[in-house]
Amino acid sequence: MKLLVTGGLGFIGSNFVRHTLAKSHKTRIVNLDIRTYAGNPENLKGMKGARRHQWIKGDIADPKVVDRAMKGVDAVVHFAAESHVDRSITDAGAFLRTNVLGTQVLLDAAKKHAVRRFVHVSTDEVYGSVATGASRENDRLLPNSPYAASKAASDLLVRSYFETHGMPVLVTRCSNNFGPYQFPEKALPVMITNWMDGEPFPLYGDGLNIRDWIHVEDHCRGIDLVLRKGKLGEIYNIGGTASLTNKQLVERVRRIMGVDASLVEHVTDRLGHDRRYAVNCSKIKRLGFKHSTTFDRALKATIEWYWDNQSWWRKLKGKTGYKSYYKKQYKGLAKR
Ligand code: NAD
Ligand code: DAU
Repeated sequence: MKLLVTGGLGFIGSNFVRHTLAKSHKTRIVNLDIRTYAGNPENLKGMKGARRHQWIKGDIADPKVVDRAMKGVDAVVHFAAESHVDRSITDAGAFLRTNVLGTQVLLDAAKKHAVRRFVHVSTDEVYGSVATGASRENDRLLPNSPYAASKAASDLLVRSYFETHGMPVLVTRCSNNFGPYQFPEKALPVMITNWMDGEPFPLYGDGLNIRDWIHVEDHCRGIDLVLRKGKLGEIYNIGGTASLTNKQLVERVRRIMGVDASLVEHVTDRLGHDRRYAVNCSKIKRLGFKHSTTFDRALKATIEWYWDNQSWWRKLKGKTGYKSYYKKQYKGLAKR
């Protein structure tokens, strides 16, 4: 099978490429990734089956590049996106271009080349904040951040290609991922790497926002299952095993790392900060999905990974672009 993976130099995409090449020896992967600040060829260093992988540096919103990448492809797994909520608050343009326009360009090329399956990787954030219970796949979409709105728009576009053109599409909506190769702008890697350097973790607002954490390897297994066994035109939620307030998350990591409570700095809240996400996963469980690890075991392994791979994240944090991002994002935030 020839698979087109978009965004395979990013956090989840690179874990998926590794997972797939190691697991299925007949699969070849074309990896279309423009390499934004979040894309990193080092994420694929030393992987098994590297000879069955080809990286094409290109933009998913460029029809010519996409047409070339799509040739002879059996299936697409579409990860490429602008993925960080905070960045969408200060500059939404790139989110609309990549997440919405890029998805449309990919769908058109997949239609032209008669691709057999197209998995669109989406997020639980499209449902918006849920005070109680858990979102089901047919619940209404109420995105609150520009990032979530761009993902909801792309989900609806995917749905429209199923209804209008009968395209063989599937959508997954996953909760908060953690694990190796996560760019140090997301909460967990910011926390772990800051604490390794004795720097504070900036906790937004009252710290009572709830997220549902899943190890990236389990997310990849869920996507692989949907790719192979999902029903065309359907949406599948993929949730985690630990629904925690950010304060609880901080305490779990603090305990493992032996960090003092003074290294938590309460700062001004994120604008439009969703209070709680939760997804009902009975549909993907009916396909046979099971988590392969517990939250505590995976969290410990993740912290160890950041200890053992300091050159990976220090290189990223040392870049001028990262430093100015960090300064802009956090230094203006008032302490609470
Ligand atoms: P990431 O930011 O780590 O990686 C995104 C990748 O896409 C990068 O390699 C980047 O270079 C590439 N990319 C961006 N714009 C591109 C363009 N125009 N053309 C080609 N490549 C481009 O993101 P991630 O956290 O790995 O998320 C991957 C996908 O999973 C996204 O669609 C995201 O919405 C979704 N998702 C993420 C999470 C999470 O917790 N991180 C949870 C649920 C769903
Ligand atoms: O729910 C799935 C989503 O999870 C994905 O679709 C997104 O791509 C991914 O980035 C993630 O979004 P979040 O906004 O939930 O993740 P983030 O790591 O940015 O933040 C997690 C929580 O921690 C959130 O409530 C905000 C808070 N936070 C975040 C950062 C970066 C802080 O308190 N301080 C921080 O410095």
